[in-house]
Amino acid sequence: MKNRRDSILKPSGHGYLEFDKVSFSWPNEVNVIDQCSFSIEKPGLWMLVGENGSGKSTLFRLISGVIPPKSGKIFCSFRPSMVYQNPDHQLLMPTCKSELMLSAPKTIPHSRLFDVIQSALEKVDLGEMLDRPIHTLSGGQKQRLALAGAIVSNSNLLLLDEPTALLDPESQNSVLKVMKTLTSSPDDPIAAIWVTHRLEELNFCDGAAIVKNGGISNWNTGSKVFQELKSLAHR
Ligand SMILES: Nc1ncnc2c1ncn2[C@@H]1O[C@H](COP(=O)(O)OP(=O)(O)O)[C@@H](O)[C@H]1O
Ligand SMILES: [Mg+2]
Repeated sequence: MKNRRDSILKPSGHGYLEFDKVSFSWPNEVNVIDQCSFSIEKPGLWMLVGENGSGKSTLFRLISGVIPPKSGKIFCSFRPSMVYQNPDHQLLMPTCKSELMLSAPKTIPHSRLFDVIQSALEKVDLGEMLDRPIHTLSGGQKQRLALAGAIVSNSNLLLLDEPTALLDPESQNSVLKVMKTLTSSPDDPIAAIWVTHRLEELNFCDGAAIVKNGGISNWNTGSKVFQELKSLAHR
């Protein structure tokens, strides 16, 4: 395992995530994550689907290190960052600029700060919005600002927990389009894990898997997972 990990890590330098037989239970509960093994070895848009309560949000907490596994090992060389369903729970400041200044690492020299913020806004199609009050943004624009915050913070693994669940179809598409671009950029692609209940979104992913019985299925194409879920629903 170690050799494979090293050989993947060194040439690409993009990052690597691996769960090795990870289990976790909330207090007084059975294992919600049970001997779960999977890996993400390159940038891309990776989607997870699964019933309510199957453990998807718990999985994100384990990846981001907020909770430790009860047993098993997590190896993560990515810099993960959470993006929640409701951007109002994530955005704290009055304007786009002040919000992104808050997200920027303190190590960025003041002379570069403006360029870093402006470039992140452009990456999420909010290039003109530097001084816009956040309360005047649409839901999709707010969600894209949350993505810009993750980019400014230098994250290269976005953990998106049903990021379009509260959005209208147009906003939903704008967030998907931006994430597709960020994860397939030829120079500097990032990785993202996207939890969805909207099965049509599976058409946009680089791989999809089902969270079930405490584990994750093998990665498959979005259309295969879509078909599998549809046939399960009709049984
Ligand atoms: N903070 C928590 N404290 C106790 N139990 C929790 C907590 N978060 C989730 N759970 C429980 O863990 C299980 C999985 O929840 P969750 O990871 O939120 O699933 P999903 O995101 O797939 O809907 C559920 O039974 C839920 O009640
Ligand atoms: Mg959840």
